Amino acid sequence: MIMVDQPPAEKNFVQNPYAFYRHILKRGGVCFWKNYNQKAFFNFDTINKIFKDKRFGRELPPDFKQPNENNLSDFYRIERNSMLELEGERHTRLRGLVLRAFTTKNIQKISKDIHTLCTQLLDNINENETDLIESYAKQVPVITIARLLGIPEEMSDQLLKWSNSMVAVYQAKISEASKDLANQSSKEFYEYIKKYVAERRSKPADDLITHLINAEEDNQKLNFDELVSTCILLLNAGHEATVHTIGNGIKALLLNKVDCRFLKEKEWYGIVEEILRYDPPLHIFTRFAYENLTVDDVHIARGEKISLVIGASGHDESRWDKPSEFTPNRRPLTHNSFGAGAHFCLGAPLARLEINLALKNLFDKKRYIKILQKPEYADIYHFHGLKSLNVEMR
Ligand code: HEM
Repeated sequence: MIMVDQPPAEKNFVQNPYAFYRHILKRGGVCFWKNYNQKAFFNFDTINKIFKDKRFGRELPPDFKQPNENNLSDFYRIERNSMLELEGERHTRLRGLVLRAFTTKNIQKISKDIHTLCTQLLDNINENETDLIESYAKQVPVITIARLLGIPEEMSDQLLKWSNSMVAVYQAKISEASKDLANQSSKEFYEYIKKYVAERRSKPADDLITHLINAEEDNQKLNFDELVSTCILLLNAGHEATVHTIGNGIKALLLNKVDCRFLKEKEWYGIVEEILRYDPPLHIFTRFAYENLTVDDVHIARGEKISLVIGASGHDESRWDKPSEFTPNRRPLTHNSFGAGAHFCLGAPLARLEINLALKNLFDKKRYIKILQKPEYADIYHFHGLKSLNVEMR
């Protein structure tokens, strides 16, 4: 197995990680990534297989030394009760409680509201110069998830701030200052949801928070910390990646000069899937092995943490022809960008709908969009999204 030294924070790498991915994919798609101190897998099939393999999971086996919670106790209070970090019975129970709200059928019911939100935002944009990330890509997902949960929309900016500082913890190396900020944000977010739940107990409505409060009052299905963590997970996971996909998508469509006029519903669906394959918002996930095993001739020890580079898996030549080209409606359509198996993205139907409507409304309403400055990605490798996207449009 080859050893690689590729700092994940390096400027050129963050702007274009695909050159490095191609290099590793050409050499078999597996390496020891020194900067993470982990074996890393890049091939589409291998990653898809590991996601679905019950001998791997997100939770460290209980008899292994748990992560050091120094300075991050408030952050881990949320993580410990978050379905994304759990396996087995607790994961199934928490996922089951929210799954119904996110089925394709239920999500389609809010399609009209998202469409209206997109048109309202576009009507209020300054056409001479606007940063589409701030004025549009961020607004659609954060307002939608706040509404779905039943959190006041005026909280949107604050939710973005808390979420942005919390996700910094997933970086390979994090400064003490960022740790403190992540922990402080976790504390404030926890306190906010706690206070809000107390208020909402007496004001039930047709929203997800009421449904979760009812489940908690039943006392069997959900405890209080699980209720808070579930809300925070849904609010955070419910916007970060979608914001970046809308931004990356607008960039890909404009730079590749895709003619978006007169596209049919089905064609938009294919475009969204191609964006998720070509330039996905999340590039790397991890798994722990629950037994000693071998994958692609590589030995993995029980308790070992490995990296799954899903951003690379969409550029695997053994699956796609000319993967570095942006080709709407290419086949096969499926990718690993929403994961697979037990933790498959619960919000995938919502994310697909939001991206679809955000792009369709933008390109239907604005027939001329010109990028004013070369778009740059933000300096965080694991969240691959643009810092800004300044355009002029009519
Ligand atoms: C383009 C947008 C999105 C992408 C690319 C994305 C990607 C992912 C991925 C890759 C995972 C699996 C992580 C793993 O297996 O380790 C995941 C899990 C999850 N996602 Fe998303 N996501 C997106 C949008 C959303 C939205 C809108 C929601 C709405 C609430 C959401 C909620 C979740 C939740 C709750 C989980 C955890 C599921 C579980 O552990 O069973 N995501 N997402």
